[in-house]
Amino acid sequence: MKNELVLILDFGGQYGQLIARRIRDCNVYCEVHPCTLSADKIKKLNPKGIIFIGAPYDVDDENAPKCSVEIFELGIPVLGVCYGMQIMAHLLGGEAAPGNVGEYGNATVEIDTTSKLFAGLDNETTCFLCNGYNVKKLPVGFEAVAKTDDFSVFAFENKEKALYGVQFHPEANHTPQGTKILKNFLYNICGCSGDWTMEDFVVREIQALQAKIGGKKVLCAMSGGVDSSVAAVMVHKAVGKQLTCVLVDHGLMRKNEADEVEAVFKHEFDMNLIRVNAKERFLNRLKGITDPEQKRKIIGEEFIRVFEEEAKKIGSVDYLVQGTIYPDVIESGIGDKAVIKSHHNVGGLPDYIDFKEIIEPLKDLFKDEVRKAGIALGIPAHLVWRQPFPGPGLGIRVIGEVTEEKLEILREADAIFREEIMNSGLNQEINQYFAVLTGMRSVGVTGDERTYDYTIALRAVSTTDFMNAHWSRIPYDLLEKISNRIVNEVEHVNRIVYDITGKPPATIEWE
Ligand code: XMP
Repeated sequence: MKNELVLILDFGGQYGQLIARRIRDCNVYCEVHPCTLSADKIKKLNPKGIIFIGAPYDVDDENAPKCSVEIFELGIPVLGVCYGMQIMAHLLGGEAAPGNVGEYGNATVEIDTTSKLFAGLDNETTCFLCNGYNVKKLPVGFEAVAKTDDFSVFAFENKEKALYGVQFHPEANHTPQGTKILKNFLYNICGCSGDWTMEDFVVREIQALQAKIGGKKVLCAMSGGVDSSVAAVMVHKAVGKQLTCVLVDHGLMRKNEADEVEAVFKHEFDMNLIRVNAKERFLNRLKGITDPEQKRKIIGEEFIRVFEEEAKKIGSVDYLVQGTIYPDVIESGIGDKAVIKSHHNVGGLPDYIDFKEIIEPLKDLFKDEVRKAGIALGIPAHLVWRQPFPGPGLGIRVIGEVTEEKLEILREADAIFREEIMNSGLNQEINQYFAVLTGMRSVGVTGDERTYDYTIALRAVSTTDFMNAHWSRIPYDLLEKISNRIVNEVEHVNRIVYDITGKPPATIEWE
């Protein structure tokens, strides 16, 4: 049951997730769909409003992404953003063409505050432009409600049909009044009440899970990470001991992690949790494997096999719970975006799996919403605020072949790094921080002795969405302390490097 839905139709840009985040921050539930969604399907979804968001294509281009023109006849308010505005103009008989200058960056725009979209705003506003195109001829029934010095149309409206377009990005940080514009659209034009809260979501989701699962049995892949923990607790609240959680200790977890997970969820939460010690199996399968994608696939597959075996022991199991979250869903497949890395929790299940259905209670939530849901469910804050940890675990943080010796070295170095970051309080600012055992050994000297040992890389990033990230400016003194501790306390490490690359071009994980 999702009321007050706003649809975001994605024309292939990179702003879909950001605008979705902004809308949910306004307490309105929204979903991103491809621009090819039919008018019929849209009607069935019954959204309160639609937002078009897209990339800098030429609207006249034969291959330019398009939506159905019938959408404009549904009586649902539409806001076209950037390319979304141009395609709206184009489809309704207007014209979009290259502007006088290649517009990209900040601009000052004069706006008409009598428009519902701009009500309560200052007459002039700074905004973020993305594209050298703009609307040159308005479609019939439309009027301009924002202009720049060269009289280009930067926003238009068709009051009667509640169709709006803006040439700039209201969701970008560089558009200071952008949130007000979005709120005007959501509350004043679409009539949303803004009553979407995480507490409501949790209550409704638990009821929906009870109705769906009934008296059947459920199995959950519990890794101790935020997503799988929140998903599992949600299902546990819905069906109690009908849920069995399986913690696969693949030997690729961080120091003491499996013990902690067992202690909290089995003993404190009284959940039905089985811990499978499968380290040997995983290490055997990873023997001699150096290719990152192959390692990910092997770990993902072995995971599923272990579950399957456990499921057979438990008896007939109808559902499998997964902690897939919304960015995984978007990254894995709206439009034709390239798959950068295979996220093993989406679409990676081998064919032979014999569960009836997968349940993904968090598939509509962004990461910070998952954390809010976790708090609403009563999960302790230190678990809810855990930094993300990838499914393949340390398997993709040991570069090259994974061995028990390398894992042990990495676990110790990583524990020291994390402890020091926690003690310094920087864990509040840094979103993900971990050590990597590089595949490299180099010459060093300890006392009078020559050493030939491993290099540990430290990685720390700040990010909001994990799609883009900055490397964190950890103070030199702290880096020095961490470096000294690791080389002194961890055997077979004689060199520490700090990763100073952002994403892009690097990814957060090294493999
Ligand atoms: P990258 O390395 O793609 O990572 O910049 C972005 C975020 O995703 C996490 N990550 C994974 N999470 N399964 C997961 O559940 C995976 O296979 C996986 N690979 C990367 C990574 O830790 C970072 O937070």
